[in-house]
Amino acid sequence: MLSNDDNALLAQTGPGTAMGELFRRFWLPAALSSEVVSDGPPLRLRLLGEDLLAFRDSDGRIGIVEPYCSHKLAPLFFGRNEECGLRCVYHGWKFDVDGRCVDIPNVDKSGAEKMKPQVGITSYPTREVGGMIWVNLGPKHAEAVVPELEWTSLPAGHVHLSRWLQRSNYAQGLEGEIDSSHLTFLHRGLKVPVSGITPGLVAIQEDGAPVLEGCETDYGIFYGARRTSGEDQFYWRTTHWLLPFYSLISGTNMLHGRAWVPVDDHHVMTFNYLYRLDRPFTQDEIDSIEEGGFFPPLRDRVSYGMPDGTIIDTYLPRANRENDYEISRDVQRAETFTGIRGVNDQDRCLQENMPSAFGHGPGRLVDRSREHLVASDRAGIMTRRMLLRLARELQNGIEPRAPYDAALYRVRAVAVLSEIADFETLRETHKGETHAVV
Ligand code: FES
Ligand SMILES: [Fe+2]
Repeated sequence: MLSNDDNALLAQTGPGTAMGELFRRFWLPAALSSEVVSDGPPLRLRLLGEDLLAFRDSDGRIGIVEPYCSHKLAPLFFGRNEECGLRCVYHGWKFDVDGRCVDIPNVDKSGAEKMKPQVGITSYPTREVGGMIWVNLGPKHAEAVVPELEWTSLPAGHVHLSRWLQRSNYAQGLEGEIDSSHLTFLHRGLKVPVSGITPGLVAIQEDGAPVLEGCETDYGIFYGARRTSGEDQFYWRTTHWLLPFYSLISGTNMLHGRAWVPVDDHHVMTFNYLYRLDRPFTQDEIDSIEEGGFFPPLRDRVSYGMPDGTIIDTYLPRANRENDYEISRDVQRAETFTGIRGVNDQDRCLQENMPSAFGHGPGRLVDRSREHLVASDRAGIMTRRMLLRLARELQNGIEPRAPYDAALYRVRAVAVLSEIADFETLRETHKGETHAVV
C-alpha cells in the first residue's frame, strides 16, 4: 500500500510536481515519425499535462510548440503548414518549428519587425530516432540523451511501432508490465493448446506464485520470476523496467515492450514496440500484429475529446470501456480466464476501472492506501520506491543518472529454462545473451 501523499507523488506528473520534474529530465516519446508529414496537418498532443502541437515543416524539421497563436490565442491546429512554418488562419501570423514568429501580415512592415521577437510561442526541442519523435519538456535538454533502447537502432523493417490512449494514470499501466504473477490468471487460456505449447508456457500456466528476485540498477529495475518447470529445473522470465516508464519483455522470436507516457494524470499514451533481431517482419506478420496478434486492434486516428474539452489526436482500441472490452461470458466460461480477446484489452479492462482515491469515477488516481500487496508484487513495489526516491532526491538537487547516460538502456530481456535457482547466478551466467526459445 501507499499513503495518499506518496500515491499523489507517484501519480502526478503535471508542471511543478516532483514526479513531473523527474520525468521532464528525460526525452519522451511524443508521436510516431510516420504521423507527421512535411507541410501536412499538425498533430494535437498532450504530454505530462501540457497541450502541444507537433508539425513537420517543408524542410522535414519537426516542431513541437504550444498550440495557440500568440495574437488572440486562436488554435494553430487549423493553421496552414506552408513554406517552413505554421500560419494561423485567423489573421495570418506565422511561426517556425522553433516557435519564432516569422510573419505578422496584419501590421505595417516596421511595426511587424519590432513585434516579431516579442511574440514567439513556446517550442520544445525534438529528436527523431528509431521511427519515433522525441521531445524534452525540461530544463536540461542539452545534457539529456535519447535512450539507446535496442529497437531504436535496428533497421526500420525489424521494428513495429504503434500507440494508443489508455484512460488511466501511467502507474497502472507500468505496474502491469512488471507483474509476472498475473500472467497465470488474467492471460490464461482454459484449454491446453494442441500445438505450440512450450515448457515456459506450461510453467506460466501452472505456477501462479512465482518467486521474484531482482535488483535496482542505474537504469531502473531488473528482476526475474522463477517458476518450477518439471522435476529438476526452473523457468526464469526476466523483465526490465527502465526509467522512467519503459518495459522490456522477453519473447521467443519477437522482443517487445512499451513506454507508458503520461498524457495527464488520468490518461496515458501507450507506445508499443515489437522487434525482431534476426530479420525484418514479413507482411503476414505485420498483418497479424495489426489484426490483434500482439496488441489491440486500433480504430483509425480520431479527434478525441478530453474530459476538459481539449481535443487530442490519438488512436483508441476497438475494445474499450464503452463496450465492456467486448467481453463474451460464453468464452469466459469455456475458453479463456477473462472472455476478453486481446492481451492488452485484458490488462486495460482492469487498469482503466480501478477505484479512485481522489474524487469519483474511472480515470481518477487509484486508491493505493487500500491495497494488500504480497511477495509476488515485489517488482512493482521496488519500482514505486525507486521512482519516489528519485523524485525526492531531485527536489533536493540530486540529479538522476539515467537521463544523461543513453548506453545504460542497451539491455535485453531473457527467458530461460535452467537449473540455476538464484537470480544473481542466473544474471551472471546469461549476461549479454538475447533470448531463448522456451
Ligand atoms: S489569432 Fe492568430 S493571427 Fe490572429
Ligand atoms: Fe498483462
